[in-house]
Parts: sequence; structure tokens; C-alpha cells
Amino acid sequence: MLPKALMGFDVHLLDPQKPIPAGTMLLMVDVDLRDPEMLSRLRAFRKVSQRGSEQIIAIGKNDLQDELQAAALGARKTIVKPLSEKSLASYIDERRIQTFVTSKTATAAAQAGAKAIKDSFEEVKRNSAVDIDKIGEAGRNIAESIADLGISEWLSTVRIYHQSTFQHILLVTGLACAFAQNTGMSKSDIAKLTQAGLLHDIGKVWIPDAILDKPGKLTVEEYEIVKRHPVDGYNKLNEQGNIDPSVLHSVKYHHEYLNGSGYPDGLTANQIPDMTRILTICDIMGALLEERAYKPRFTVSKSIAILKEMVAQGKLEQALVLALETVMEQPGSTRSAMTGLAKTAG
Ligand SMILES: [Fe+2]
Ligand SMILES: [Fe+2]
Repeated sequence: MLPKALMGFDVHLLDPQKPIPAGTMLLMVDVDLRDPEMLSRLRAFRKVSQRGSEQIIAIGKNDLQDELQAAALGARKTIVKPLSEKSLASYIDERRIQTFVTSKTATAAAQAGAKAIKDSFEEVKRNSAVDIDKIGEAGRNIAESIADLGISEWLSTVRIYHQSTFQHILLVTGLACAFAQNTGMSKSDIAKLTQAGLLHDIGKVWIPDAILDKPGKLTVEEYEIVKRHPVDGYNKLNEQGNIDPSVLHSVKYHHEYLNGSGYPDGLTANQIPDMTRILTICDIMGALLEERAYKPRFTVSKSIAILKEMVAQGKLEQALVLALETVMEQPGSTRSAMTGLAKTAG
């Protein structure tokens, strides 16, 4: 019996030896991505599948290794186990209004970015220095991918990462990078802002998962723990002595607001340079565009509207929010059909 979500589709058992016609939706469910035999069968599948076919791979919750493996296998979409009628249905709905475009550049850059973020978190956990060259390299790949394909394609690509912190960092980095590229910032500032995006939440490594993934409202004590991450991240990065001061400033102060209502130090406008202001706006935008345990994914237009409310409250700079709105309207390259995201999301 077909799940209801698949009613109306032609469903076939696929022969791994035969090409899969373009446009076929390939469901791969409940596979063990650590099983070498299964992996080689999936790779063989990938070889015979044509451009345009879609792969969905079910992964364990918050399992970055599975996510990286799924991305390497060419998955356009991962669905967190256990698979349910609802998760399948939401995918099918999404598919009806979005055109997915194969983008090796974006996928490879997202993979390298996720790997660099994962490594940096592990380095910090081990108390060693973050490999800043690797972060720089990942940042350059992301910048190239966004320059080539546009921000919408990037937002769509990084959604493969369910692990919320990784998806968040990749989204924020992409937004910051697109902002920098589209507002004519210098190459070196683009690189710094991209680095700041990749490193901004590194202090979250010390926040327990139970707090990070808590579906409900945080208690006052839990929120106090969350609020430590900018300073913890800054202290760790500052001590290694090879990170640009503007990047360090952005890491420490990306939760400050112009009217002094942010944290950790309640800085006000004249103490917050542009780069930090931009990162703050991209950080909030990224969070709004993400699905979180306590909120749905907001559309681009709703997210911009929320940022404008924050401008009205004196928290964010109007000119920068309007510039981000323009950046989000950029169609990307002609190779990208993900203007559909803006339409869908807007
Ligand atoms: Fe943060
Ligand atoms: Fe953040």
C-alpha cells in the first residue's frame, strides 16, 4: 500500500544496473550509511542515475557523519528518521513548488564548509588551535559558489544539513558572503566576513545539546548558558593569536544591538563597526530562515519584515537591512532555478 503522500506518482522498484530517467524521484529510505556494502551499492546507484533524478536519504537525527555521507552520495534532500507520512508529504509538497538544480559547486562547497566547521568544533573541544587556513579555504569555496550560483541556490543546498548548528553556520556564512559580494566590499573584507560567519558560533561547543536542541522555551538559567557563547568563542580564538581583530570582534559581539539591548556588553551604535552589524543581521536572518524545534522556517519576506521590525525598535541599521533585502532578491546566475526559493519562501 502506497503512503498517501505518494499517491498520484508512478512508483517503481529501480534496477541499479539501468539508468534512471531524468525527473525520477528516487527514494532511498532507512539505509545504514556506515555499512560499506550498502555504500558501494549506493555509489553504483549514483553512477547510473541521470542528472535531474533526485535522491532522498533518511538519516539519523543530528548525525553530521550521515549528512556528509548523504551529500557525498548526491542526495538532494535528507529526511530525519523515523520516516513518517508527514515528513514524506512535506518533501513532496516542497518538490511541487521548487525546482532542484544539480549544483556540484554548491554541494562541494557546502560539504567542505560543513567539514571545516565540524573540524573547528572538534579542535576547540580538544583545546587545540582552530586551523584558520582550513577555515579560510572553506570560506573561499563558499564565496566562489555563491558568486557563481547566487544565494538562493546556497540556501537550498545547505538545507541538507539537519544538524541545526551546522546548517545555521552555513546559512549565516552564505548570507554574509552574498551581502559582502553584492554590496561591493573589497576581496579582503569578503574573506573576513566569510570567516567571521564560519567562526561566529564556535563558542556553542560548550553549550549542552539538551539546551541547544530544546524544543520549548529556555529557562533563565539555560539562557544565561547560551549567552556565554560569543565570549567563550572569542576567548578561545583570541588566544591563538592569528585571527584578524575584525573577525574576533564580530565573534564576540554578534548578539549586540545598536540600542544597547544586546549581549554580552550592551554595546551601542558607535561601538559596533559595520562588519559586526552585518554579521548580526545575517545571523538573525539565518535563524529566521531555519526550521527550529520551536519554530517553523519563515519565508524570506516574513524574515525581512521581522528584521524591519527590529530596525523600528532601534536594534538594527535600516540601510543594512534594506541592502540585505536587495541581496535576497538577486536572481543568482541563469544556471540557477532557485529564484523559485525566493518565490516559494516569499
Ligand atoms: Fe550566536
Ligand atoms: Fe549564530
